[in-house]
Amino acid sequence: MDKKKLVLASDHAGFYLKNALVKMFTEAGYDVIDCGTDSDASCDYPVFAEKLCNTINSGEAELGILCCGTGIGMSMAANKVKGIRAACCSDIFSAKFTRLHNDANVLCLGARVVGEGLAWELAECFVTTPFEGGKHARRVGLIHDIENKQ
Ligand code: RB5
Repeated sequence: MDKKKLVLASDHAGFYLKNALVKMFTEAGYDVIDCGTDSDASCDYPVFAEKLCNTINSGEAELGILCCGTGIGMSMAANKVKGIRAACCSDIFSAKFTRLHNDANVLCLGARVVGEGLAWELAECFVTTPFEGGKHARRVGLIHDIENKQ
């Protein structure tokens, strides 16, 4: 299976988890772009969510992973960007089905919610699961119709 190009980003709360995932994906042979943050100094998660989403929309990466404290702020911010379908997941079933049925292109993880081991399982499941297409493609299209009407 060909490996998708990935982009990762975090705020201060997700900094160590993001670094751990960058290392694990790099060692697993993935091309990884790291959009920061670069330290555990307090910063604003929407800034990094937007950077990551722009990297996906420019075509430099296909899938993204955002880490903050809960994963929720990152998902709210990312879902404001046109073309982005971000899912905050802390269980494997959701991480798998948001790829299969929603064609999610961003996974959001809460570093204060999941440990490094589970985060890796979630992230690996997310990046290796394909979109099922078919009727799900129509539904994803309807999501973007809503976006275009705003
Ligand atoms: C930072 O303290 C925290 O609010 C942030 O990482 C995130 O959890 C927001 O949703």
